[in-house]
Amino acid sequence: MRPDSIDATLDGLRAQGYVAPRALGTVVFLALRLGRPLFLEGEPGTGKTELAKALAGLLDRPLIRLQCYEGLDLAAAAYEWNYARQMVEIKLAQGQESREDLARELFSRRFLIARPLLQAIDPPDGRAPVLLIDELDRADEPFEAFLLELLSDFQLSIPELGVIRAAEPPLVLLTSNRTREVHDAVKRRCLYHWLDFPDAARELEILRLRLPGIESALAQEIVAVVQALRGMDLYKLPGLAETLEWSRALLELNALVLDPATLTSTLGVLLKYQDDIARLQGSEAAQLLARVRAETHGG
Ligand SMILES: Nc1ncnc2c1ncn2[C@@H]1O[C@H](COP(=O)(O)OP(=O)(O)OP(=O)(O)O)[C@@H](O)[C@H]1O
Ligand SMILES: [Mg+2]
Repeated sequence: MRPDSIDATLDGLRAQGYVAPRALGTVVFLALRLGRPLFLEGEPGTGKTELAKALAGLLDRPLIRLQCYEGLDLAAAAYEWNYARQMVEIKLAQGQESREDLARELFSRRFLIARPLLQAIDPPDGRAPVLLIDELDRADEPFEAFLLELLSDFQLSIPELGVIRAAEPPLVLLTSNRTREVHDAVKRRCLYHWLDFPDAARELEILRLRLPGIESALAQEIVAVVQALRGMDLYKLPGLAETLEWSRALLELNALVLDPATLTSTLGVLLKYQDDIARLQGSEAAQLLARVRAETHGG
């Protein structure tokens, strides 16, 4: 199902449990309409990866995921020749075939192992998938050059075999946490969106959508605390993933409201650096809660 308006896109994503701001809904709608890849950058834990999952659900397409890492190469990302099978084939041929025939046979599709990028443009069941190229900034820069052909023409050139072109282009999403800048040539082929931390209203909406059982007062306090933490000068700010995880933790502990002791004893769910945690020990936690409470109750 392809949404036919921005509102339908937003509603469809929400039905998948994903609450997108309107600007994101617009760029997603346009990416679908124009058939362009979507490049997402933003803070950690703000829903970049999750968007690909939600879109696969919304469009009822399979999700193919390529997780990038240092040293990722074509063999792991796109395709690889199956040398072992080729060897067996040579043995079996026993010189019965001419050398040209054998060579053509050995470099045919039968001996090609498809990795995520090739799977995405030539899916076994013919259904164009959602292709997520996750955390591209982790791959080495030269890897980006491999992607250019795929991103602009939805095709891959395999020297021994020729060009493989997608019958129906996949929807491509790329993400980066911006540990380095991704090359302009990649960005130029994509639509771009920066995912920020959600504002309090959207964060509350996501929390209620994801944890329907949560008490309203507790949910509001949780969101207010996380929002206040994001205003502090911490080394690593908590993302949506942390908000949800902390809420689950508090539910496990049967907490009905937040008190300083509960906050300090569960900080490890929200903050992952000792310096940040240390800053909130003792009176700081109580002050933060008092401030938050004054805000949430004061309107
Ligand atoms: N807009 C949203 N609506 C609903 N849930 C969301 C949304 N954004 C994020 N989440 C929740 O937050 C979690 C973290 O999101 P996600 O893993 O997509 O973040 P990310 O941006 O990919 O982070 P990282 O950069 O660390 O990979 C998801 O598992 C999902 O449950
Ligand atoms: Mg991610």
